[in-house]
Amino acid sequence: MKDKDIQKQIDKLRRDIEYHNYRYYVLDDPVISDREYDLMLRELEKLEKENPQFFDANSPTQRVGAKPSKKFEPFHHSVPMLSLANAMDLEELEKWDERVKKALGKKEVEYCCELKFDGSSVSLIYKDGEFLRGGTRGDGENGEDITNNLRTIKTIPLILQNGAKPQHPMLGNSPTSDVGVDLSKELVIRGEVMMPIKSFEAINKKAEKEGGKIFANPRNATAGSLRQLDPKITASRHLEFFAYNIVSGLKVGSQSEALKKVEKLGFQPSFDYQVVMGLDKAKKYLEKIDKLKDGLPFGIDGVVIKVNNIADQDKLGFVSRSPRWAIAYKFAAEEQETVVENIEVQVGRKGTLTPVAHLKPVRIAGSLVSRATLHNKEEVKRKDIRIGDHVLVHKAGEVIPEIVRSLKEKRTGKEKPFKMPLNCPVCGTKVVEDERGILVKCPNKNCFAQHRETIIHFVSRAAFDIEHVGPALVDQLIENKLIEDAADLFSLTKGDLEVLERMGEKSAQNVIDSLELRKKVSLPRFIYALGITHVGEQTAQDLADQFETMDKLEKVKLKDLEDLFGIGEIVAKSIYAYFQDEKNKRFLDKLKKVGVKIIEEKKSKQLVGLSFVVTGSLRKFSRETAEEEIRKRGGRAGSSVSANTSYLVVGENPGSKYDKAKKLGIKILDEKEFTKMLSN
Ligand code: IVH
Repeated sequence: MKDKDIQKQIDKLRRDIEYHNYRYYVLDDPVISDREYDLMLRELEKLEKENPQFFDANSPTQRVGAKPSKKFEPFHHSVPMLSLANAMDLEELEKWDERVKKALGKKEVEYCCELKFDGSSVSLIYKDGEFLRGGTRGDGENGEDITNNLRTIKTIPLILQNGAKPQHPMLGNSPTSDVGVDLSKELVIRGEVMMPIKSFEAINKKAEKEGGKIFANPRNATAGSLRQLDPKITASRHLEFFAYNIVSGLKVGSQSEALKKVEKLGFQPSFDYQVVMGLDKAKKYLEKIDKLKDGLPFGIDGVVIKVNNIADQDKLGFVSRSPRWAIAYKFAAEEQETVVENIEVQVGRKGTLTPVAHLKPVRIAGSLVSRATLHNKEEVKRKDIRIGDHVLVHKAGEVIPEIVRSLKEKRTGKEKPFKMPLNCPVCGTKVVEDERGILVKCPNKNCFAQHRETIIHFVSRAAFDIEHVGPALVDQLIENKLIEDAADLFSLTKGDLEVLERMGEKSAQNVIDSLELRKKVSLPRFIYALGITHVGEQTAQDLADQFETMDKLEKVKLKDLEDLFGIGEIVAKSIYAYFQDEKNKRFLDKLKKVGVKIIEEKKSKQLVGLSFVVTGSLRKFSRETAEEEIRKRGGRAGSSVSANTSYLVVGENPGSKYDKAKKLGIKILDEKEFTKMLSN
């Protein structure tokens, strides 16, 4: 064969293989079998080996072919890579829309809404339809030349599809041919390199086993993979590229047209984009993506809204380092990085020792988090959390802060492992472990900590709700031997209190008044205040509904408890055991003697069958009183939003429950509507 014919054959194979790459990796719609593909690739490899004069770095055989480099060369961006302005909330988004409309003199603007990919942005240069060079963003003016690493990414075409007419008998005319692009010009395309979440997890799992580097998130993993000196490592990381911007070399009338064009050139366009008229529709898109985001195979951290018309974009121009024609709306981060400043052990009402992480405060899903329970020593061991560790924190069930994992790659060696104390940190008694060796308890029933927590629980808002009696006063009262249990509170006199530090006459009177006021208490509050293991507010309410008086409840048989709807065996046993205990019997007697009276509540059936969750701060109610009003009317009040929630009652600064309820389509009541519902 003549050299010219060989070259022709090689060229054709390269183009065909690139086309099939595109069908397979970008369109996810292969038109030949894997075997046929392998045969073509092998044929090309053979021809290239026999004819080294036709070497080409853009041959599909060379995706992983480059040798490791010593360092990256600089990569200059002739058009700077800018960043996007952020809208922190809907209000800022609305303000941006107003400015755009005003500047363009339009009532409504057409927007192209896209996903905001959370990876590494890169710039790719093509010349004569072939991949020439590519670089990282760097400082926007100069990045690093990572061409060889980018070549390993299968969704970056090495040869553009435009005009390529694969002549495979099964194909006929390729839909990608004749895009009408003059490929002799330099073409600059920008977009995001991303690591699929599945690959991220697999890579970390492998690293954990082999003691390699663990990445905090797919974004860091992508950046790290792109900056490997050996392209073989990059190739093993399953990266993908999504194009979202044509910078030069191709004229288009709109952003959506640009996205269609890049797809025809062989790129994966920014998927799931949508062209809409006006901000209201853009907000709908935003809501839709927020719902869908956790199910995507890639990490996104928001959406980008762009003025679709390019002439309008040009009119709007840029301000400092961002275009005026685009804005990023970031979703509230539900996971944040912070530092474990200390791990303290708390002793609970039941004597259980619980390690609690003290965190450098971070804002997560709308609220400031500075503490996270570590549950038990097994959990600390399993997650290997040390004092000084950088950790990822999220809100479990959107309420309770929890440490997801420690970032071992950030360790300096100064971190201190946590050890469960052998003695109760409060009373010094030797601790005991449960059968499984997981829970550690202080066995001393007279432990100050247990006393204290029991009393604090008793006076808390959802229990007796005694104003002016908080943890600090409870501590003082116990220390001064003024009380031994919660019943003693009701025998306190003004004189007892006045001698305490920081307690004036007026404060003492306030305490006495609140105690007097709360001697009359409803049955559900009374039951809840006892602090029976496993009896929360709702169970207390259920028990009150079923038994109606304390007398009946105190005399209940285990069998009857077990038959109650909604109460499991363990809870039933715990309730039964509580009322069998002599010490508890004496305590209940004592409460009667000091004048505590259970008052009957008029209960209506108004909200029977409905379940509520209260979130945010209401003006006229505390969360507890709002819940009490609901329960009084036969409704149920819970703390986490689910598909079974009938209404979410929303006050100010509602946080993530609000988002979740909206996602689930749950009816939302503001305070006014809620008050109206109660009074109906
Ligand atoms: S367009 C002139 N579109 O967000 C700026 N950027 O904060 C043009 N990003 O560095 C950028 N998804 O890495 C654009 N659909 C998208 C994007 C996107 C993610 C990133 C990009 C950029 C950063 C800006």
